[in-house]
Amino acid sequence: MSLTAPHLVTEIPGPKSKALFAKEQEHLAPGLQGFALSSGIAVERAQGSVIEDVDGNRFVDLIGGIGVNALGHCHPAYTRAMHAQLDKATVGSFTSAPRAQLMHEVAEVAPKGVDRLQLYSGGAEAVESAFRLAKNYTGKHEVVGFWGGFHGKTMGTLSVNAAGNAKTYGPVPPGHKLMFANCYRCPLKLEYPTCGIACADVAAEQLRQSTTGSVAAVIMEPLQGTAGNVIPPPEFMQRAQGIAKEHGALFIADEMITGFGRTGRWFASERSGVTPDLITLGKAFGGGFPISGVLAKQEIAQAKPWSNPSGSSSSYGGNPLAATAALASIQTLKAENILANVRTVGAAMLAEIKTWKETIRWVGDARGEGLFLAVELVADRKTKEPLAKKVCDEIFQECLKRGLLSMSYAPAIRLQPALTIDQQTALTGLGLLREAIAAVAHRHGAG
Ligand SMILES: Cc1ncc(COP(=O)(O)O)c(C=O)c1O
Repeated sequence: MSLTAPHLVTEIPGPKSKALFAKEQEHLAPGLQGFALSSGIAVERAQGSVIEDVDGNRFVDLIGGIGVNALGHCHPAYTRAMHAQLDKATVGSFTSAPRAQLMHEVAEVAPKGVDRLQLYSGGAEAVESAFRLAKNYTGKHEVVGFWGGFHGKTMGTLSVNAAGNAKTYGPVPPGHKLMFANCYRCPLKLEYPTCGIACADVAAEQLRQSTTGSVAAVIMEPLQGTAGNVIPPPEFMQRAQGIAKEHGALFIADEMITGFGRTGRWFASERSGVTPDLITLGKAFGGGFPISGVLAKQEIAQAKPWSNPSGSSSSYGGNPLAATAALASIQTLKAENILANVRTVGAAMLAEIKTWKETIRWVGDARGEGLFLAVELVADRKTKEPLAKKVCDEIFQECLKRGLLSMSYAPAIRLQPALTIDQQTALTGLGLLREAIAAVAHRHGAG
């Protein structure tokens, strides 16, 4: 039986959700993802882009695990493969048939020549490994990121994190953060394309001024997720790669969110015609299973000691179950031509959210590429002052009441549903989001 949404049978959260949430809260440390805490729901089961809570309420899921849920919840091909592997072998780093096949499936879609893959469990772990490899290969030690960039919460990644709490942890490894092309909020107050991507000139100069002459790597999200699904002009990535070249550093594309079809291409670097030296993979890669990876050019992957036995390994990386998850995920993306769905449904969603500007005063910008979209809410279109967080929280609650899970608790509402979402479910979800924004705007006299 296929689950449909919205379908609401209790107040949200319902009594069973409340009881489970309270039980967990007795010992759960604070700091869980905001939307899980604010929703207060406990999940019973999920299918495709629908989540059912323990009270029987069903929600359209436009969060998609923040880009993790590539195939939709519990895709039959995925669960079949996982069930079968669970009964065979799950632990250890010996070669397995799924892992051997996975290497080939990834190489088939990766940028030409970037086809040496090492596997890990979490995104930040893969970024750390990419930094270690870059340091080994170049013999240098500085790393460089961009304003708004997010690459994880570990000590090494904090040195290039412009989003998050890096400043509260004291000294972190040496890192630089350069100006990024956030065109809606252009730091230079210019307009694309007449700007000539001036922000890239500033970024290049920033690094010249601040480096000690030992840059190992420049890392960039081709499209920035955590910053609010920000989409730079394609040329910006070419310029960023130029900065890496100028300093004899490796160029890393962090495709954790944008890889494996999110933008309608296998990797978002393709939109810029850029072949990175290293690519970090995660999230959608395992279709929900915690598996991540570093893809490297052949020659770079030989750098020592990264390439020595046990030099780049980890306890769980590429175990037979993780490899099966990633294999099932990539094979299903290919077999069901899911990238075509991303392009079609993404275009329909973009067309819909672009109309909101006409009727909702708070909508400052609506943008998207494939199923990577954002609606940016502002208190004032002229000043672009972001809508207050507590007003966004009201929108989130209004969405919940209507049977929608979305990232509407922040002024830049990020939309990245499962890559398999069908057009009707996607537009139903957007309809609920629009209603919720309009209801809160009306309450605040902005309707
Ligand atoms: C671009 C990017 N890189 C790295 C990470 C870190 O991944 P993880 O949370 O699995 O450590 C994230 C997480 O959101 C991300 O968006």
